[in-house]
Amino acid sequence: MGYETLIVDVEDHIGLIQLNRPDALNALNQQLLNELAEAVTAMGTNDKVRVIVLTGNEKAFAAGADIKEMQEQSFVDMFNSDFFTDQTEAILRCRKPIIAAVSGYCLGGGCELAMMCDFILCSDTAKFGQPEINLGVVAGIGGTQRLTRFVGKSKSMEMHLTGRFMDAEEAESSGLVSRVIPAKKLMKEVMATAAKVAEKSPLTAMVVKEAVNRSYETTLREGVLFERRLFHSLFASEDQAEGMTAFAEKRTPKFRGK
Ligand code: CAA
Repeated sequence: MGYETLIVDVEDHIGLIQLNRPDALNALNQQLLNELAEAVTAMGTNDKVRVIVLTGNEKAFAAGADIKEMQEQSFVDMFNSDFFTDQTEAILRCRKPIIAAVSGYCLGGGCELAMMCDFILCSDTAKFGQPEINLGVVAGIGGTQRLTRFVGKSKSMEMHLTGRFMDAEEAESSGLVSRVIPAKKLMKEVMATAAKVAEKSPLTAMVVKEAVNRSYETTLREGVLFERRLFHSLFASEDQAEGMTAFAEKRTPKFRGK
């Protein structure tokens, strides 16, 4: 399907989605969010895709929800349409790993979108922030909740209350991103990382995603029990037999997601 606000490509088991509203710094309008939800959903059921990469451009991953589109909305409009809910739920429903590749501005809904991905790799030009307070609103796609879990209460509170931006170095040292990469090498390194994920068992990768995400939703004891049962259940898969046999035979495993 053709998209107007995204550039989408599937190659070597990697689904690449590039946000493509460069004139608006990839501001997330309803069309973009609808297309993104559709693209992620389609990749989620496409057997050729084992991992998804979500990116923007050098200047912006996304500078937030589209302020101009929201400007005239009333409470009743926002509430009745349940603004942001369907699209973000569709993205969160995706069971395959999603890597956010961030350069430049990653603000408001952009930062929240990156945090909904499974991990964030960013360039040294990245700037993260939740500046909604400057517009008289609060984050609406999970920023107050997810940023707090990533960086702790004090830093999250400061970011949300002042609207200040965090640079890449601070984002890495505070645990928001997993790695900072020089801007020119970002996409090469991200695609190499995605290729590493795509080599693994796609079945196991989905299980890993589910297990790590469960840590946000449950107690430690229940979470460990959930993990243990998933671990046990993987012994019913061909990929477990293949992975362990390949180790014993000193060869590279061939995973089929079975
Ligand atoms: N919504 C709509 N348009 C946006 C936008 C946004 N979030 N961010 C940037 N743009 C547009 C600008 O209006 C401008 O368009 P025009 O050329 O038509 O005027 C274009 O993108 C380029 O932006 P700037 O000229 O402002 O670029 P800059 O380099 O001078 O500044 C910036 C960059 C600091 C990121 C600035 O654009 C900015 O502050 N943007 C808004 C950031 C923000 O407040 N984000 C939160 C949005 S609310 C939200 O996201 C709610 C939520 O939690 C879901």
